[in-house]
Amino acid sequence: MKDKAFVPAVLLLCFWVLLSSGSSRLLQSDDKGDELKNYISWEDLRVVEEVGRERSSSVKVKDNNLVNQESNMATVNASRVIVVDKRGRGDSVTVQGAVDMVPDSNSQRVKILILPGVYREKVIVPRTKPYISFIGNESYAEYTVITWSDKSSDPYSNGTELGTYRTATVAIDSDFFCATAITFENTVVAEAGEEGKQAAALRVTGDKAMFYRVRVLGSQDTLNDATGSHYFFQCHIQGSVDFIFGNAKSLYQDCDIRSTARRFGAIAAHHRSEESDDTGFSFVNCDIGGTGKVYLGRAWGNYSTTVYSNCYIADIITPVGWSDWDDTNRQSKVLFGEYNCRGRGAERRGRVPWSRSLTQDEVKPFLGREFIFGDQWLRL
Ligand SMILES: *[C@@H]1O[C@H](CO)[C@@H](O)[C@H](O)[C@H]1NC(C)=O
Ligand SMILES: *[C@@H]1O[C@H](CO)[C@@H](O)[C@H](O)[C@H]1NC(C)=O
Ligand SMILES: *[C@@H]1O[C@H](CO)[C@@H](O)[C@H](O)[C@H]1NC(C)=O
Ligand SMILES: *[C@@H]1O[C@H](CO)[C@@H](O)[C@H](O)[C@H]1NC(C)=O
Repeated sequence: MKDKAFVPAVLLLCFWVLLSSGSSRLLQSDDKGDELKNYISWEDLRVVEEVGRERSSSVKVKDNNLVNQESNMATVNASRVIVVDKRGRGDSVTVQGAVDMVPDSNSQRVKILILPGVYREKVIVPRTKPYISFIGNESYAEYTVITWSDKSSDPYSNGTELGTYRTATVAIDSDFFCATAITFENTVVAEAGEEGKQAAALRVTGDKAMFYRVRVLGSQDTLNDATGSHYFFQCHIQGSVDFIFGNAKSLYQDCDIRSTARRFGAIAAHHRSEESDDTGFSFVNCDIGGTGKVYLGRAWGNYSTTVYSNCYIADIITPVGWSDWDDTNRQSKVLFGEYNCRGRGAERRGRVPWSRSLTQDEVKPFLGREFIFGDQWLRL
């Protein structure tokens, strides 16, 4: 499936990054043109690299998102790839600095290439700046880290508590965002039951976002998957309590879900509170492991919706599996389902009776990208 993504495209945009006095690198964005692209494709997740100025005939498809292709020097346009390098050889030394360079009401894909390094900063991609990509180097996702350590009990500038929402190290409020090979981190560590330690690494309130091979590291409330339709593909998400939470409609496919809970905790806390909301979390073909005994999900809202299908689940799940958040009224309204999962954590014998073992027909809408209306905004 991925290989199709590397069909060479016409290269229209490129620019130079001076690395040293003798050599230079050319980075190219391979967008097709100026038409508004209301979808996300593999091209939006990669930057093309060329060494030297002359045309290269060696077209090399590197394992993933970095590809050497023939260059078209006639159409150099530096405006659509912004390089972040904390050592000062790029366009910005901070990620936020690069986001700030993108004009408001941006209507074309802007790729922000983030070179390896630890970026200690909070980043907000505002609602007014859609079509932004954060692109790391596939070989260095673990070493390309945006990190901060706000927690919900910290004071806000006006003296009140920050609250969970504003703790996010990186907040994506715009639509058509995508990211690859970046680590989003919040270093606050919370034990279950501790107050005020909610600390998000990533918040996504924008619609139509894709995350490919990103790492999201935190403890309590790591990933605020707040609103919109989102696709998490081959990502690593780690935390202890409610570490994937919010009211988005999201597909987590082929992801590593890692619990760091010492004793108890929960993976998902979906927040659907209205029957009419069309939202839910679907985990498909994920590898679920780590430590502790955690719930698969907790009913943060009356209509909380969370489904695990075709997952491997290690022995880290509390046998009852699911929590009604101490509100028995929710038991008849939530949809907490499992389908064809394996591993000791998938054993359903001790499960709460109001959780569901889904039938093939029932699980069908949760299994593919149609769950997140992918036909409308993903071309992969
Ligand atoms: C480069 O892109 C910018 C912003 O999209 C545009 O205003 C400018 O006209 C482009 N320049 C060329 C030479 O294509
Ligand atoms: C990514 O890392 C590889 C391996 O070190 C390196 O060869 C390549 O130039 C890097 N690409 C970019 C765009 O920095
Ligand atoms: C402090 O600022 C936040 C965010 O703007 C706001 O929600 C809160 O009401 C403010 N608190 C006070 C006491 O002004
Ligand atoms: C959830 O349901 C309970 C009763 O079952 C109701 O009292 C409460 O208002 C509902 N919550 C929301 C947010 O609608």
